[in-house]
Amino acid sequence: MPASDLRSWLDLLRREGELVEIDAEVDPYLEVTEIVDRTVKSGGPALLFTNPRGSEHPLLVNQFGTERRMALAFGVEELDDLGRRVADVLELQPPQGLVEKVKGLGKLKQLADSMPKTVSRGACQEVVLEPNLDLLPIQHCWPGDPAPFLTLPAVITRDPRTGQRNVGMYRMQKIDARTTFMHWQIHKDGAADWRGMGDRLDVAVALGCDPITTYSASAPLPKHIDELMLAGFFRGEPVELVGAKTVDLEVPANAEIVLEGYIEQGELGTEGPFGDHTGYYSPEEPFPIFHLTAMTMRRDAIYPSIVVGAPPQEDAWLGKATERIFLPAVRMTVPEIVDYDLPVAGAFHNCVIVSIRKAFPGHARKVMNAIWGLGMLSLSKSVVVVDEWVDVHDYEQVFFAVGANVDPKRDVVLGEGPLDQLDHAAAAFCYGGKIGIDATHKLEAEGGRPWPERIEMSAEVRELVDRRWTEYGLAGDASANGRARGRMRRKLRL
Ligand SMILES: Cc1cc2nc3c(=O)[nH]c(=O)nc-3n(C[C@H](O)[C@H](O)[C@H](O)COP(=O)(O)O)c2cc1C
Repeated sequence: MPASDLRSWLDLLRREGELVEIDAEVDPYLEVTEIVDRTVKSGGPALLFTNPRGSEHPLLVNQFGTERRMALAFGVEELDDLGRRVADVLELQPPQGLVEKVKGLGKLKQLADSMPKTVSRGACQEVVLEPNLDLLPIQHCWPGDPAPFLTLPAVITRDPRTGQRNVGMYRMQKIDARTTFMHWQIHKDGAADWRGMGDRLDVAVALGCDPITTYSASAPLPKHIDELMLAGFFRGEPVELVGAKTVDLEVPANAEIVLEGYIEQGELGTEGPFGDHTGYYSPEEPFPIFHLTAMTMRRDAIYPSIVVGAPPQEDAWLGKATERIFLPAVRMTVPEIVDYDLPVAGAFHNCVIVSIRKAFPGHARKVMNAIWGLGMLSLSKSVVVVDEWVDVHDYEQVFFAVGANVDPKRDVVLGEGPLDQLDHAAAAFCYGGKIGIDATHKLEAEGGRPWPERIEMSAEVRELVDRRWTEYGLAGDASANGRARGRMRRKLRL
């Protein structure tokens, strides 16, 4: 069972040797960032700074910073298991026979149990305070940042028209002890709630939930799907909610800290710059101002944070979880997709590599256009399409396919469309060029000359060598190629 709150998550990390507690006094102004940056890049542990300068609250960073910890957070062996669990539900067919009926009922119950549940009391309200952000060890991450930023919040709003809840992760620049900016970008659901608001929009911010609930704030779900339901699905139990004290919203009962408040119609200020996950400072821009009306917390609350900057950083693994979780949904819409990979170095919006079962002329272009029309993937700047036998996670194989199969004049598609708000290279604000590279084999109808046959060893000889490998006295139990093929087969089964 995944951890039910932040403290049981920390216990689990401790037991697994995945947490280091730092008792030395460390400054949340830049010093923590430098320590975290070095730790993340060396695949190091989660860090709990028990004595951050200027605050009584411990500061937790790098809780998600490796593939293993991200899998531990979800209680799975590997991140591919997340996609399998989603596929299991999405591909639910009318059951044949009693056994399948019972299994089907189990899955439906699992879905029903995912819905958040309202409870009367929550640990997050053990202490109720006048708002005072000065109490928290909020990190000032990079030298060019103008102020400290809350970087790992779950921001809760309701669509003013439908009442539907939204939970998103948007950085919050501290203005003073009672106000912050709210950096929801133009394409995000939080920004849509804000655009639809009347005079005032209630906002609540949960800090330090169980790891799955924290993750779910970053999940790019369609607007009408509650992120807390996704969290309940993966937790295996509903997220418990309590009514906020001063705003008309419910908040996760297990949060370490909750900030309550509101945004007023038309009130904007200049947010940023901020050292961002693009590896550059995102520029100053107008964003709304969040006024705090209350601050509630658990006793001895732990403050969570994340450092973003030039990749790879901790957020790489939140992104990889999203990539795996959403693969089945992407394949529901575009079933010819075998797998996809969003390289961490591509900051997630810069590049998508996708493998397809190619069946007709122009198939790769169809898939590019589908991706450019699909949820947040629509912001992808470049799409590389390869054949189903290419492992999209093996960038050497992808590079080989691009080099070997592309005639740049015929196979490169240039277009334009919406781009991520953080894309500093875009020609215009949130808008600019797109590139698609068709690195699949070419059919004659696509203007290809007769396509040569790929070199592949026969299955019998591969099996023979697998069987006899130890007899040869060579290291390891299989060749590198054998392992790569194994990875590929796993993906195809997903
Ligand atoms: C660490 C981290 C920080 C993020 N910061 C922001 C941000 O400041 N603004 C933003 O619009 N999206 C940010 N995102 C991405 C959003 O959380 C993500 O797009 C999410 O799906 C938004 O939810 P929504 O579509 O419900 O609005 C961040 C993601 C992570 C993992």
